[in-house]
Amino acid sequence: MRRYGCMERTEEGLEKKIFADIEAGLEKLAAKGQFRSLTALPACGGKFFRDGKVFLNFSSNDYLDLAGDPRVKGAALAAVEQWGCGSAGSRLMCGHLALHEALEKILAELLDTESALVFGSGFLTNLGAISALAGPGDMVLFDRLDHASLIDGIRLSGARWQRFRHNDTQELRRLLEAHGKGEGRLFIVVDSVFSMDGDIAPLAEIHSLADAFGAFLMVDEAHAIGVFGPCGGGICRDLGIRADLITGTFSKSLGGYGGFAACSARVREWLINRARPFIFSTALPPASAAAAHKAVEILFAQPDQGKTLLDNSRFFHGLLAQKEMKLLPFASQIVPILVGENERAVALAAELENAGLYVKAIRPPTVPPGTARLRLSVTLAHDRGDLAQTAERIVSEARRLGVL
Ligand SMILES: Cc1ncc(COP(=O)(O)O)c(C=O)c1O
Repeated sequence: MRRYGCMERTEEGLEKKIFADIEAGLEKLAAKGQFRSLTALPACGGKFFRDGKVFLNFSSNDYLDLAGDPRVKGAALAAVEQWGCGSAGSRLMCGHLALHEALEKILAELLDTESALVFGSGFLTNLGAISALAGPGDMVLFDRLDHASLIDGIRLSGARWQRFRHNDTQELRRLLEAHGKGEGRLFIVVDSVFSMDGDIAPLAEIHSLADAFGAFLMVDEAHAIGVFGPCGGGICRDLGIRADLITGTFSKSLGGYGGFAACSARVREWLINRARPFIFSTALPPASAAAAHKAVEILFAQPDQGKTLLDNSRFFHGLLAQKEMKLLPFASQIVPILVGENERAVALAAELENAGLYVKAIRPPTVPPGTARLRLSVTLAHDRGDLAQTAERIVSEARRLGVL
């Protein structure tokens, strides 16, 4: 069978210059230790079997171990039986199902907001929401460690922007003072739990600043939903903060796929009319909507899961800290081990994989240069015995490689 690849030259023999650039670019990434490739795993979740061996997976965002939960799988299967595999159109055409409506209702309850709107993914939610709300002439202030999807949404909006130092509310205040007198509208955009550091934004202070300067506050709760707040309703809910827009994803604690914005009913209507990834993309498939709904029901039925996860994570962090691993202060289920150089982080991850621990090295540009790390996420698939064994293995491999 003939396989069609790229044509590096036209039929006329003319060179397509992009291919030489791709070649050079890939070589450059490899030379910098930044080349990324894919590894197919036999299963997702916090544990998997490969080559007759059990692996503990510390790269999974399935924090509550719901991706394989029989209740969630059952809901997805039943939805496929009833509705089929695809939603057949965008929400504004024919893809809007009762499933989406029910999901938005339960999400608004979870986050205690007037309404919610489901998107195709968390990335699309951020891209769509920011670019629908902010525009040329506006000023968006954002934390320099915000997730890529927030930053891309800001870029796409055409608004002016300034980054503030991570979690530095004094710098945020200075920027608000400097930009608050202009014609345009002000926006503040932050993560609540930062994905690569696992630390938490000072949301009470940020909220007060947004209030004092009349800025629109948008908070991405992707890593907080399911873990923090009553029934896992997030950090804004926990602190009683009314952000103007909260975004989240089904791909982490809820164990599925898809994203959402939680906001007032009028902001929701604006997004339905203006957010291009909402308008011009097919509605979330029935199985994903039903799975997310069931996962939120589980949050309501088992409200202590987040606390158990955080207690386990604190225990794990404590074990590593005792052995003087280079860590950030404990804050969440995300526990980064700072290594520094890319090659050393990759080597440590490879050694751990040989020892049955699956954890990925995170390198620039995902994190700032010189801060390559292992990002471990503790999930409810790991019990305390797993965590103790893991801490021991990490310490011994780190010692062997001279990382400790
Ligand atoms: C903070 C944050 N926001 C948004 C996303 C995107 O979510 P999704 O995976 O649903 O696209 C992610 C993760 O991937 C994230 O870490």
